[in-house]
Amino acid sequence: MIKLDKVTKVYPDGTEAVKEVSLEVGKGELCILLGPSGCGKTTTMKMINRLLPISGGQIYINGLDNTKMDDNELRRNMGYAIQQIGLFPNMTVGQNIETVPELKGWPKAERRRRAEELLELMGMDPNEFMDEYPNELSGGQCQRVGVARALGADPPILLMDEPFGAIDTITRVRLQDEFLKIQQEIKKTIIFVTHDIYEAIKMADKIALMKEGQLVQYDTPANLLYRPKNEFVENFVGTDRALKGLQLIRVKEVMTSSPPRVKSDEKVGAAREQMEREGIDWLVVVNDDGKFAGWVDKADLGRGDRVRSIMGHSVMTTTVNTVLNEALSLMLSYGLENLAIVTEDNRLQGVVNFGVIRKALTELTQRRQSE
Ligand SMILES: Nc1ncnc2c1ncn2[C@@H]1O[C@H](COP(=O)(O)OP(=O)(O)OP(=O)(O)O)[C@@H](O)[C@H]1O
Ligand SMILES: [Mg+2]
Repeated sequence: MIKLDKVTKVYPDGTEAVKEVSLEVGKGELCILLGPSGCGKTTTMKMINRLLPISGGQIYINGLDNTKMDDNELRRNMGYAIQQIGLFPNMTVGQNIETVPELKGWPKAERRRRAEELLELMGMDPNEFMDEYPNELSGGQCQRVGVARALGADPPILLMDEPFGAIDTITRVRLQDEFLKIQQEIKKTIIFVTHDIYEAIKMADKIALMKEGQLVQYDTPANLLYRPKNEFVENFVGTDRALKGLQLIRVKEVMTSSPPRVKSDEKVGAAREQMEREGIDWLVVVNDDGKFAGWVDKADLGRGDRVRSIMGHSVMTTTVNTVLNEALSLMLSYGLENLAIVTEDNRLQGVVNFGVIRKALTELTQRRQSE
């Protein structure tokens, strides 16, 4: 789908920003360009849609040399979310998102519907934001509009330069998850720049790790972590590769899917019996409809006679697609021994705890070592 063949960029001042980079991104793949500031990520990306002229080598899009493609056609087929946000300041949010659909001649009503859909996807209320101007938004909101605009006309290729860079951590994690979920359905061919290795490991099918204009290793996230090609990669990955490895595992792969549970209107005696029978000191509490309600702890059993009156109401839950690293981080931040995994409408699906995570990590390390 996208092929770079010995691509080189020398800026007019003589800076060699990209040196003979060759790589291929297959249809529907998400490739991440990763590396320290100044290593040439943005330059590489801008040569793909010809915002910058190439100095040497070739770039092919679906087998066609991109220097031989018509400018407009090239850009209409590639959504582009740039690093400095780049919204048109004199246009409203809606007009910004509708830019490419308008170029493509979509009727007004259809464009508007698409803009509404994309704003909702980005977690922004269309009624509130559609007619705002970029200077009325925060940096993170502008960036989300930038991503919505890139998705605007449903292009087969997306180029995204640090699309979540200016967004706070919690929203960023949510957007990453949302984005991956959408990607599973729409299967765009994506080149995505970041210098956040956690983001890269979580999102990428393949990572292109760059250093000073050169491509050092082009590989799957797991290989980058566990089979670093040289010392630079090893240092870039860092000593905590075990923790980073948790980014490769999703909650659904390791959770305890039928955790010990009790209904909130049960008597405490029943909870006590269950704990003794199963040799444990906690139970998940669910309502009659199977929705997660809280936790009951052995230490609290003496404090009342119905489970409902003694249970702890933890609001923190997560979903099956969360990566273990983030699950762990939630557990540490909220002081939880167990984390409830729920559906979007809050029905209990499972539980993860430190034991589950430790076991997953051990297995991952052993598997990598034996390969
Ligand atoms: N217009 C330009 N003229 C000359 N040199 C440039 C120009 N733009 C970028 N460079 C240089 O080219 C190199 C690569 O820059 P580039 O912006 O591609 O890096 P990057 O990997 O995207 O960095 P960052 O993570 O900071 O965004 C850097 O040394 C940079 O200073
Ligand atoms: Mg850059």
